Amino acid sequence: VPGIVAAICSGDEIDTLPQARVRKNLRQSGPILLGPYESGDAVRKAIRKTPAEVIIELYASHLRGCGGAGFPTASKWEKCRTSKGESHYVICNADEGEPGTFKDRVILMENPELVFDGMTIAAFTIGAEEGMIYLRGEYDYLRGSLERALANHRQLGLLGNNICGIEGFNFDIRIQAAAGAYICGEESALIESLEGKRGAPRDRPPFPVERGYKEQPTLVNNVETFCGVSRVLEHGGQWFSRLGTEQSKGTKLLSISGDCRLPGVYEVEYGITVEKLLQQVDAEDAQAVQIGGPSGFCIGPKDYLRSIAFEDLPTGGSIIIFGPDRDILEYMYQFGEFFAEESCGWCVPCRVGTTLLLKDLREVLDGHATHRELDELKQLCGTIKTMSQCGLGLTAPNPILSTIEQFPELYEARLQEGDYYPRLDLNKALK
Ligand code: NAI
Ligand code: SF4
Repeated sequence: VPGIVAAICSGDEIDTLPQARVRKNLRQSGPILLGPYESGDAVRKAIRKTPAEVIIELYASHLRGCGGAGFPTASKWEKCRTSKGESHYVICNADEGEPGTFKDRVILMENPELVFDGMTIAAFTIGAEEGMIYLRGEYDYLRGSLERALANHRQLGLLGNNICGIEGFNFDIRIQAAAGAYICGEESALIESLEGKRGAPRDRPPFPVERGYKEQPTLVNNVETFCGVSRVLEHGGQWFSRLGTEQSKGTKLLSISGDCRLPGVYEVEYGITVEKLLQQVDAEDAQAVQIGGPSGFCIGPKDYLRSIAFEDLPTGGSIIIFGPDRDILEYMYQFGEFFAEESCGWCVPCRVGTTLLLKDLREVLDGHATHRELDELKQLCGTIKTMSQCGLGLTAPNPILSTIEQFPELYEARLQEGDYYPRLDLNKALK
């Protein structure tokens, strides 16, 4: 989003030389990212348990998927472990593509060992020998340092054959560059892409835990989730679940960008209010906050006392702040452009609908629409949300619907009186 998300990049140092690096932008770390981590610590503790006991520890932690949807991690692992197949696979979804989200990048730069160890614990638990990190295409500059960290892990006996001296515990991780498409972050499209096919979502169910990579049981988790797993096995599930709220235990990494003085990555305890976040990043005059990136919701000041948690305001990690001078609706239009561009085109409601949304929203923004057209726009949003095949289409109307709900006066101010467009009366026309 020009002018908004660009603000977080302006402080980054991006070199194109071999030692490419981006400044970390890590502003606040908590139990997941805090402090040093001795490579292999969590793995050594995990292998003293049985796979079933590892899952019990995850149940005790109440860890939920950190990519956005928040599916209970223990339950996903248990389903994958008990699914029958010739081989099981572990995939780390590092295709962080939601505009305004950059927390996985920071983890991969700062603590890749936590991710590798989380994947190794997954392999031990579900019985996998092959792991893959599907790395966002635009993060290619991280590949060199990740490959070096993997090589170091192999030298330490934490990857490869007979891990930690356990006969027959063989597991290794390879990195695959993603295809540069947002839709490939959707897990089944990601799997298609990993298999060398066009990145289009599959029908679910069956979920990957039953039939994923090469039609085999596959565990797909986000980068941050694997870090959480390592910390849970390092310190125990009870330790993790002491933090957070009733339904959202532990902490969340947030990528905060836009109109604030201190953008960056923050590790916060679930339950933090939006107001507190805005104080921390020095943006107390925010006109609106986009929670969860374009696929999430835009909220205004009346909701700033709500909290970041699955039971209130869920987010995969993206928080975009709009200052008092921003034309919010123009940014919603840009989010719409993003979805229309990234729609994979497989199903009609999303392929056609996202383009129609843009056209209709433009009419509203340019002052060419009436209440009737606004109602039609809402109906179109509803159709796309109900009829689309995957998360992209299901969430594409959210920016429009949430701003209509939160900022009706902004739409009102642009509407015309009466019926601007003459409508075709079908009954008359058919006579
Ligand atoms: P989902 O709720 O369908 O699934 C979430 C996870 O739970 C998946 O791994 C799925 O396989 C698993 N799952 C769900 N039901 C299951 C069952 N009955 N048995 C076994 N496993 C099951 O959500 P989806 O469509 O995978 O992801 C949507 C989320 O992704 C949104 O909430 C959005 O916030 C987030 N997102 C994140 C982005 C990022 O860059 N991190 C980008 C775009 C969207
Ligand atoms: Fe593709 Fe959109 Fe349909 Fe998802 S909803 S399958 S992105 S066309």
